[in-house]
Amino acid sequence: MIFKGKTIVLGVGASISAYKSADLCSKLAQEGATVYPIITESALKFVGAATFWGLSGQPVSTGVFEEAFGPSEIAHLRYGELADVIVIAPASADLLARLAGGFCDDMLSAVVVANPGKPVLIAPAMNTHMWQNPATQWNRRTLERRGYIFIEPGVGRLAEGIVGAGRLAEPAEIVEVIRETLFPRRDLEGKRVLVTAGPTREAIDPVRYITNRSSGKMGYAIAEAAAARGAYVTLVSGPTHLPQPAGIAEMYRVGSAANMAEAVFARSDAQDIIVACAAVADYAPTATALQKIKKSGDADFAIALTPTIDILKELGRRKRPGQILIGFAAETENIAANAEKKLHEKNLDLIVANDITKEGAGFDTDTNIVTLYQKQGEPVTLPIMSKRAVADAIWNKVNENLLMPNR
Ligand code: PMT
Repeated sequence: MIFKGKTIVLGVGASISAYKSADLCSKLAQEGATVYPIITESALKFVGAATFWGLSGQPVSTGVFEEAFGPSEIAHLRYGELADVIVIAPASADLLARLAGGFCDDMLSAVVVANPGKPVLIAPAMNTHMWQNPATQWNRRTLERRGYIFIEPGVGRLAEGIVGAGRLAEPAEIVEVIRETLFPRRDLEGKRVLVTAGPTREAIDPVRYITNRSSGKMGYAIAEAAAARGAYVTLVSGPTHLPQPAGIAEMYRVGSAANMAEAVFARSDAQDIIVACAAVADYAPTATALQKIKKSGDADFAIALTPTIDILKELGRRKRPGQILIGFAAETENIAANAEKKLHEKNLDLIVANDITKEGAGFDTDTNIVTLYQKQGEPVTLPIMSKRAVADAIWNKVNENLLMPNR
């Protein structure tokens, strides 16, 4: 009964996956929560109000003028007073647009607009093209800037027959995010954590550079999750378009692998845990031209490259007793063998391998599919999940297996 004494407003938007919301409603009620379902008019074309009434034992609302708590109560305000958290699963593209625009023409949108201090969790579900549409992504970013937490849609076979992003996250994952929101873990309290994230840029001349497709999303999620769990977090980031994650104590933006190495080594001794998620260039131009290199005829042009410093390997060499070192492995083949080689060669405690050829994994995605390898024990492969959920799974693993008392 993890949610005993907690009240959850469960918003249901229009999507074929609304049936999964009935399962979510049931799980929440079974865990002791008082669940108030609010179903949009369009969602009622997919599911029946009676199902949610039966599963929750509470009145179900749709229209903003309905008197869910009797004529003396203004329902959209009362829902907010009662709710510990508002969970919207599934959220359609239209619902995201209306929430981003501040509309309040039905009960669900009115409850969200009328209760700005409440935590709001949003699990979108829709057709891939609708999800990837710039308008939807704009609305998503607008809502994120307001502090709403998104539970990433999964990648898989959608109702219309195509495979892509847009599946509602599984009810179990949504339950886990609700639990994290209502009972945030503080199991990294007192720990100093350094995370590297993003790509590096190796200059060829004042105009051009060598880089890679890392967006920083995975590393930023790890940093944000650690901060939410009480750690003092230092983030060393290559160039990204992402804002500073919430709760970070120190952030350093760097350019090249050499810059990143300098920023990391200056702070590494003080850290209890270091997570190297950055996609650091393995080679940099041997010399950077001071002036823009001009095209000269049609002849081939070669750039001499020199290996960069392997930051993680050097951290492994310098590792002090009790310090925990976690690396990543971005692989396209022989995942297990390559990850285990890096685990040993770089003196790591844990390595997180992602097969970057898989849809929904690796670079510039909102989700990832990873396997965790340690020197002892069996590898653990996680299902596709949001990068934030992967981050929390890594921290759970650190707590279960690596962080021992008095370490
Ligand atoms: O940023 P996103 O778009 O969210 O994408 C996430 C990610 C794919 C970048 C991330 O999940 C990931 O896999 N990060 C590691 C990428 C990488 O460089 O892997 P690698 O197998 O080449 O390197 C192994 C480890 O050594 C990594 O921890 C890396 O940070 C480190 N390394 C590598 C080279 C180098 N010169 N110095 C290093 O410290």
